[in-house]
Amino acid sequence: MPKNSSVPGHVAIIMDGNGRWAQSRNLPRIEGHKAGVKVVKIITQTSAEFGIKYLTLYAFSTENWKRDKTEVDFLFNLFVDAVTNYLAELVENSVKLNFIGNISGLPYFVRKFVDYSINKTSKCNRMTLNVALNYGGREEIINAVRKICKSGANVDEKSFEDFLYTEGQPDPDLIIRTGGEKRLSNFLLYQSFYSELFFTNTYWPDFSKEEYIAILNDFMGKRQRRFGGVK
Ligand code: IPE
Ligand code: IPE
Ligand code: MG
Repeated sequence: MPKNSSVPGHVAIIMDGNGRWAQSRNLPRIEGHKAGVKVVKIITQTSAEFGIKYLTLYAFSTENWKRDKTEVDFLFNLFVDAVTNYLAELVENSVKLNFIGNISGLPYFVRKFVDYSINKTSKCNRMTLNVALNYGGREEIINAVRKICKSGANVDEKSFEDFLYTEGQPDPDLIIRTGGEKRLSNFLLYQSFYSELFFTNTYWPDFSKEEYIAILNDFMGKRQRRFGGVK
């Protein structure tokens, strides 16, 4: 019997490599972001089919503001367009949208759309799709510290988790990063403490259902999670 045969409860993905995918085809970087959208759909659908309860996708980090304004503007517009087109399918598949990150720091039209899409999917309960938007792990931890101090609650691991964006959710069992870099880039720094990490060289727009299923099968069949113990 494989050691770890259960389906991960929470999968988190750093969707990286869009720009390089485009550059390798002599296309502008934004074409890579566009091509990445269809992969988001495939991976969301596959996750729901597997019975994964939480999927978190890293869409925009607190450091991504360092990019050219044209790319940043393009990303926010693409996000709103893509989710607008995808919303009916999310509802049909009963996928609830949730956003983690500094939402109040986003442009007004994005904030409004975030509220709208949360509302539209609020009754969905098959899977929760967390979109990490203007997300930074350090900022999340610092904010949680501020809030817990203000609340007067006891500072322990259990109560601290209630002040994170992922309040009430299990920690990710599995974090996948596409695009070849082997780092977390400020993603889920608190929650990743015992996550299994998978790195693939595949650029996000080329990431396929088959490769995703192979990673899930590897996680379920071979990885031994000891959580600090011996077996
Ligand atoms: C990831 O792809 C998408 C975002 C950060 C929004 P990149 O845009 O980082 O692509 P590379 O890493 O430059 O290839
Ligand atoms: C991480 O990718 C952020 C997202 C995928 C949204 P980056 O491309 O921003 O990360 P670095 O700069 O290579 O660490
Ligand atoms: Mg990148």
